[in-house]
Amino acid sequence: MLIKELKLYNYRNYTRKTVSFDPELNIIIGPNGIGKTNILESIIIVSNTKSFRTNNDQNLVKKDCEFSKIELSSDTDRYKVVLGNKSKSLYINDVLIKKSSEFIGKLNAILFKPNDLEIFVQAPNERRKVLDIEISKVSQSYIRSLLQYNYLLKEKNRLLKETEVNETLLETINEQMVPLIRTILEERDSFFETINRHLSSFYNKISAADSEIRIVYRKCCEASDIADRLRDAKEKDLYYHYSTFGPHHDDYGFLMDGRELNSIASQGQKRMTLIAFKFALIEYIKDKIHKIPIVLLDDILSELDRENQERLIGIMPADAQVIITNTDIKDLNIHKKYKLIDLKEEAHV
Ligand SMILES: Nc1ncnc2c1ncn2[C@@H]1O[C@H](COP(=O)(O)OP(=O)(O)OP(=O)(O)O)[C@@H](O)[C@H]1O
Ligand SMILES: [Mg+2]
Repeated sequence: MLIKELKLYNYRNYTRKTVSFDPELNIIIGPNGIGKTNILESIIIVSNTKSFRTNNDQNLVKKDCEFSKIELSSDTDRYKVVLGNKSKSLYINDVLIKKSSEFIGKLNAILFKPNDLEIFVQAPNERRKVLDIEISKVSQSYIRSLLQYNYLLKEKNRLLKETEVNETLLETINEQMVPLIRTILEERDSFFETINRHLSSFYNKISAADSEIRIVYRKCCEASDIADRLRDAKEKDLYYHYSTFGPHHDDYGFLMDGRELNSIASQGQKRMTLIAFKFALIEYIKDKIHKIPIVLLDDILSELDRENQERLIGIMPADAQVIITNTDIKDLNIHKKYKLIDLKEEAHV
């Protein structure tokens, strides 16, 4: 998977901007606030349809403008996202794509960013978001099951709030939920299984350590118990007036040598764990769709010492297109051929 060219119109700080990329390594430099992260953010929007910095698309539209447009040409397709006031239109090769599930993940990109560290301390729903986005990008059945499950969950919660709950309807909803929950649990199981197969080895390669890093998946139940558990939860659901059981309560945590990583690891070790997690994610995507995602590193390298920078660049998948941002090229220890995109110079052209 390769990005050839990106065009932004009225997006964030850009009125019009065209950036062409090298198929291998690209380094975007420029001072704070010039728009480096904005470029990576626009690529992620083409990948996920959502920003990682805001839930409000209006923030993406340039100040005092009505709409913005992101156009991205890959080696195979042309993607377009038009963001307006409360509306978002998605196109592939000029064809309007009505279901976002048919757009998400067509361009697959993995982003490394400094505040990834939040994953250790965030609320479970934020951690689940990371999980759902990554699996959705590679599995149509997951995204469809998740959307349907969330729809039924809303219906169920609405029903449970009524003074006289229609229990027959409640049971029908539960029955409809069973196969959806099964798909969600199986896909999440397979996700963690693949990630865990790679996590320790990437961690040890990046940090030159010898540790065991694992993710524990704290799931609502085993796939074989779903129907029973939904039935068992009924009394509790009726008492609390909401759905107390299901994959919408799932969570996961990182372990280092069998202990809760967040409580024992240093900042540097946490950072390396997340970098290893992203590398394991690349392997998961390769496994599932047999394509190598585009790798985006936002301000990550300058946080590492020169030795770790070199190790990190060294273990990038050989065929991956990589886009790195940093304020200054002098801080980087890179011995490969790269294309330099200097936003400060371009701003003066
Ligand atoms: N909707 C918007 N309209 C106009 N300008 C915006 C909008 N949203 C963000 N900006 C501007 O975009 C700039 C931030 O860009 P960005 O975060 O990409 O910078 P950066 O180059 O990554 O900086 P840093 O090195 O600090 O990470 C800021 O100047 C901000 O004011
Ligand atoms: Mg930035």
